[in-house]
Amino acid sequence: MSLPSDALSAALLPHARRLGETPIARLIADDPARPRDFALRVGPLYANFARQHVDRAALDALFDLAETADLGDAIRRLFAGVQVNATEGRAALHTALRSDLADSVQAREASAQARAARERMAALVDAVRAAGVTDVVSVGIGGSDLGPRLVVDALHDAFADATGLRVHFVSNVDGNAVRRALAPLDPATTAAVLISKTFGTQETLLNGGVVRDWLGDDARVYAVSANVDRAAAFGIDAGRILPMWDWVGGRYSLWSAVGFPIALAIGMDGFERLLAGAALMDAHVHAAPLRGNLAAWHALIAVWNRNAERLAAQAVLPYDERLRLLPNYLQQLVMESLGKSVRLDGDLLTTDTVPVWWGGAGTDTQHSFFQALHQGTQIVPADFIGVIRADHAHAANHTALLANLLAQTEAFANGRASDDPHRAYAGDRPSTLFLLDALTPESLGALIALYEHSVYLQSVLWGINAFDQFGVELGKEVANALLPALRGEGEAADPVTQALLSEIRARA
Ligand code: F6P
Repeated sequence: MSLPSDALSAALLPHARRLGETPIARLIADDPARPRDFALRVGPLYANFARQHVDRAALDALFDLAETADLGDAIRRLFAGVQVNATEGRAALHTALRSDLADSVQAREASAQARAARERMAALVDAVRAAGVTDVVSVGIGGSDLGPRLVVDALHDAFADATGLRVHFVSNVDGNAVRRALAPLDPATTAAVLISKTFGTQETLLNGGVVRDWLGDDARVYAVSANVDRAAAFGIDAGRILPMWDWVGGRYSLWSAVGFPIALAIGMDGFERLLAGAALMDAHVHAAPLRGNLAAWHALIAVWNRNAERLAAQAVLPYDERLRLLPNYLQQLVMESLGKSVRLDGDLLTTDTVPVWWGGAGTDTQHSFFQALHQGTQIVPADFIGVIRADHAHAANHTALLANLLAQTEAFANGRASDDPHRAYAGDRPSTLFLLDALTPESLGALIALYEHSVYLQSVLWGINAFDQFGVELGKEVANALLPALRGEGEAADPVTQALLSEIRARA
């Protein structure tokens, strides 16, 4: 059941007011069981919410809202392939790409299609390797880029020797992106994968054309698309086109053939392990009661920080160099899904939705924007993510990394008083701490799947559609309409754009 738009504020603001004068450190001191009771583990992933600015009564209010909104049924509907993407009349069956949990025809068919596509993908991985390819250029953007880019960057170190393939990514329409990517490569030993659900995306078609021409050999150009006809019209042989389906949203698609670059970089076994990690999280989210459901906790805390604490930003701070692209990935997953101001029923929202998500890897970020996090006027809640076991021989570095991770979450919450106002730390900065046992395909799959589920549950609480993205269309249309003017064939209708065009023409 969707909540009335003002239900969140009505239920949560009294608790926010009640807790207003009680800092996080006091909540922890008053409730010694909190560090343990506010923690959950799912397989290799541990999460601790003890340093959020909620107490048990506020949590009760949040979980009451979760019951009223029937998050349990929302989870069932997602897995079953109900058309949760109502504005586009589609299911969102990304869970069927890695799990087979739902007892519905749609979900079972989707799982079967996904399995068949994986078999074809495995054969193409073998074919690429057998062809003596050393490098693969993956061309795509948004959901057809960020997921594979994150996973390859996170995991390829551990698998590079096994696969012998290096994967490079090109997304930006700026020609410098493709120029830089191709510069160190040899066309004779390079293959290309063009990934686009629609096969109509300007950036991917332009960059794909550049890469295909540079290769000079269509036999090493592969595609992943839900629009096989368009990919074929681009000149790609049907045998080298892997499918995608309208029931997978782009930003939820790394588990499909969109993950072809992942399978090339870490091998098909590694890719299957990634799916198994996500499946582990799916099984948890599907079965766990809301009180013990990690995705429900994460979503409810997000809603608390936005609608009760009124916080307009959210940081994501991985303390692992290999996860440095996680913030970029999450920016699309979270902000493209939840950046809405209209409810599913068409009414304008009267409550705030997604905050600005941003971040970067610690400890680098401690020396860039942490000053503002510690002493700025805006409070920014943070998701910290650490990895317990290092995969390198530099033990002292890892000890220092973990010390910094623990220190920051402590300092954020507790602050430190001082007679000198410049040297005082107010503290009371909320954070969640995730710990992965180690960075493996399984733990990364579980972490990403957790965020997907949390995003969906947030959308249910807000009554919005997490699976459309009409907001990105206007800019694309205006850009297309301006192409002739930029080529010198006509003028712009908008007076400011026309002035800018004149400036560009004069200085070109
Ligand atoms: O511009 C946004 C978007 O539509 C994303 O949702 C999508 O992931 C991306 O473009 C790429 O689209 P495609 O896979 O169709 O090229």
